[in-house]
Amino acid sequence: MNNPIRIAIAKGRLEKQCRALLVRAGYDCSALETPGRRLIHPLPFQDGTSPPLEAVLSKAPDVVTYVSRGVCALGVAGKDTIIEQGGSFYEMLDLKLGACRFALAAMAGSAFFESAEHKRVATKYPEVARRFLSGLGVDAEIIRIEGSCELAPLLGLSDAIVDIVETGDTLRENGLVILREMLPLSARLIVNVAAYKLRRNEIDNLIEGLKGAKESC
Ligand code: PRP
Repeated sequence: MNNPIRIAIAKGRLEKQCRALLVRAGYDCSALETPGRRLIHPLPFQDGTSPPLEAVLSKAPDVVTYVSRGVCALGVAGKDTIIEQGGSFYEMLDLKLGACRFALAAMAGSAFFESAEHKRVATKYPEVARRFLSGLGVDAEIIRIEGSCELAPLLGLSDAIVDIVETGDTLRENGLVILREMLPLSARLIVNVAAYKLRRNEIDNLIEGLKGAKESC
């Protein structure tokens, strides 16, 4: 019996699409469909020829931490979190799931760039926001928010936000508009450096399986 390979998967917007991809790649993901309160889930390979996976569902920043520190060999997290958090791992595959982009947004009609006043920008991504604004030549105070940043300008907490935008519905429904956009984002498969040395063939096979599953979508 092969040792399972542990994979951390970001909960939320990517989870369902990632599960569907693993199923197409031949993994039995029924344990993830009804996870209950269990935190580690066995994902056997359907014909038993490849090593099984063991999935951990966690918040995206924890996925990056687990893979960097080697407690999970593999991880699936958004490029947004990967850029914000950084870390030491290989980014092996663009899974092209959860496509979105970073944007600077403000209330429609706001004079964000015109005004010389002190500016406050709310974000879940302070490092990204700092670099983004500095590239635009904007000196702003960054306010870290954990939940919906779109609320910050509505409450008067900030003059703008830096956040990910997927459909744009959240901005639209709250009267915000995009001022600037930056790079496109999607989910990536990341691999722990030592785990890749130790289990390279198995991990390469798994990556090939995921690539095939992606192409068959
Ligand atoms: C993200 C992001 C926006 C929203 C954008 O939050 O922070 O609030 O999605 O998506 P849209 O352009 O399709 O409206 P997410 O739903 O991931 O939840 P979170 O606030 O819990 O991070």
